[in-house]
Amino acid sequence: MRVQDKVVVVTGAASGIGRGLALRFAAEGAAGVVVADLDEVGATAVAKEIGARAVAVQVDVSSEAQVAALADTPFGPVDLFCSNAGIIGGHGLDAPDQEWSSLYAVNVLSHVYAARAVIPSMIARGGGHLLNTCSAAGLISCPGDAPYAVTKAAAIAFAEWLAIHYASKGIKVSVLCPQGVRTAMLERGIEEDHLTAKAVNASGAILDPADVATTVIEGLAAERFHIFPHPEVAEYARRK
Ligand code: NAI
Repeated sequence: MRVQDKVVVVTGAASGIGRGLALRFAAEGAAGVVVADLDEVGATAVAKEIGARAVAVQVDVSSEAQVAALADTPFGPVDLFCSNAGIIGGHGLDAPDQEWSSLYAVNVLSHVYAARAVIPSMIARGGGHLLNTCSAAGLISCPGDAPYAVTKAAAIAFAEWLAIHYASKGIKVSVLCPQGVRTAMLERGIEEDHLTAKAVNASGAILDPADVATTVIEGLAAERFHIFPHPEVAEYARRK
């Protein structure tokens, strides 16, 4: 898919990877970009940076009603929904059940809510695209939090199911599997888990959100299912 003239929703777009995607989609000529985030101030700043073709919406992606409302955009029906918001936390065996549940709600159920919100109207209009931000942590052994890795593996499994189930109805699904991208989340993970850049990514290479956005634009155009900003994650997954 090409983003030009398309209506795009990006969750978690107030910062990091989501912000990078929203800015790049606008630069590629999207007809409208919905900048959705729990952080209303941050989302408003990103929408302002883009200008008239963007609108900021405060959303908690763990609320089905709030995600459903994102489908009603001032620009028209959604062509591309990027379910990108995510959280880390939980650490290991000592993580309380409540923490597992909140990670599951934000990192997995949000994708289910997005699919429910847009797939029926996409099918009615002949097709559409979903891009779900998962993580290399759902594919390969990574240091860090157990609940995070588990929810990201579940998110990948859900995206695979969606892709297979709705392919015949014109719905494309892609999963973005980043690793080691310079954002607030990465800084927090490094600090809390005492990780080094080398531990986050074997090559020690840390990417910028703008690099990820470039890989996403290429991946969407090629209609790839897996979009890997880090070539070595792609290589690992290929061998798996
Ligand atoms: P970030 O912390 O910079 O951005 C996450 C955004 O999601 C924030 O703006 C935050 O306000 C928003 N958010 C959090 N909970 C929310 C909720 N309940 N409802 C709506 N918005 C909410 O982090 P980053 O790195 O940009 O993360 C984006 C996605 O990329 C996440 O799904 C993350 O798991 C994934 N990811 C990031 C990697 C990295 O190296 N930075 C590696 C692998 C995956």
